[in-house]
Amino acid sequence: MDDHVERAKGAITNALVIHTGILARKADRIYIEDVNGKRYTDFTSGLATTNIGHNHPAVVRAIKRQAEDLIHSGCIFYYEPLLLLAERMREVTPPGLDMFFFANSGAEAIEGAMKLARFSTGRQGIVAFTGGFHGRTFGSMSLTTSSMRYRRSYQPFVPSVYHSPYPYCFRCFFGQRPGTCSMDCYSHLERLFKHLIPPDEVACVVIEPVLGEGGYVVPPKEFLKRLRELCDRWNILMIFDEVQAGMGRTGKWFASEHFGVVPDIMTVAKGIASGMPLSAIASRREIMEKWPKGAHGTTFGGNPVSCAAAIATIETIKLEGLLEKALLTGEHAMKRLRGMQERFPSIGDVRGLGLMIGIEFVREGDLPDTEGLRKVMDFCLEKGLILIECGVDKNIIRLAPPLVVKTEEMDAGLDIMEDALKAVYGV
Ligand SMILES: Cc1ncc(COP(=O)(O)O)c(C=O)c1O
Repeated sequence: MDDHVERAKGAITNALVIHTGILARKADRIYIEDVNGKRYTDFTSGLATTNIGHNHPAVVRAIKRQAEDLIHSGCIFYYEPLLLLAERMREVTPPGLDMFFFANSGAEAIEGAMKLARFSTGRQGIVAFTGGFHGRTFGSMSLTTSSMRYRRSYQPFVPSVYHSPYPYCFRCFFGQRPGTCSMDCYSHLERLFKHLIPPDEVACVVIEPVLGEGGYVVPPKEFLKRLRELCDRWNILMIFDEVQAGMGRTGKWFASEHFGVVPDIMTVAKGIASGMPLSAIASRREIMEKWPKGAHGTTFGGNPVSCAAAIATIETIKLEGLLEKALLTGEHAMKRLRGMQERFPSIGDVRGLGLMIGIEFVREGDLPDTEGLRKVMDFCLEKGLILIECGVDKNIIRLAPPLVVKTEEMDAGLDIMEDALKAVYGV
């Protein structure tokens, strides 16, 4: 065992999963270098976060400059990066979502969004979706059902949270197939309102517009549209958790744009500040204004250095045309992966938007092939390609490289994956 893994064992809780044994020294764009000088390609973007690439010079510059001027406010005074970031965010968030609360992490944004929904509606109920991941704090964990391992032994959860199946068509909860589907996932919500909680007691519905940790699943457009109508009918706030799908990951600023649906509240984190801790709750003025002074707060949220990194991130996405690039590179990758799917029966499904692509591994009868995927990922890591899995059975590769990845770099990564498939499945 490597010395650093031993050292970690003696000092860092076992609960924290570090996905590879790499001891990283530095990073640049899509590459990570370890302490021995070995170079890896990171197709995880540090868990879907360094969308503009690791250590982008514009971000590094912004951090250095801001750190020299002002590192902390603790809500004692205003500072220019906070105001400027809100103005920049307003230019890219869905129409009407023009007021913000800045926090530190995805989970914290979800907590705040839940509080805002309950406060502004005076209602208690929260509906989330089975398979969703929203964080590890008590409120966000109460919504999280992507795997039992995030919930085991933490009962009781926040009360009045209800779950309905996420529209995961490849593994439909209702056994339906695309084409003959009658949207039972939607009807289930109506049943929930008849049997478990009346809709006029529901504050909000919280959903990832593209499922992240739960399996990189793209829901049918129709589902999100009907969900929007349902929320409108009952004055329920629709919350999109764009923590993973946002900030250009799907080739649009936010995944909601692919569906033509605008939520009432949106949570953003991960890609917002290229790795600096920052998150945001975005909502309409009339909702945010229901929160009186002091109803919510933070010491570190919206930290000046993180805000400066976020401003540089937004400018870089625009300057380098990264949304368009993500769409093009994503399309190219999907085409190649679909070709591989035809040759390798162990690839059961390839799905995604932009550079948020899920590759689901199966064995006979579409059963999850967790072991095969593990072997493929180990092979890739050995060859210098870092991948990460998702899904309750850990049988889905989430392909989420930085949006700056070039077509030839994408191809080099996919070549390694193809070699891995040949080595593991012998086709
Ligand atoms: C969709 C979604 N929401 C919330 C979170 C929680 O974010 P954080 O780990 O920053 O608390 C995550 C993290 O993976 C996520 O993917």
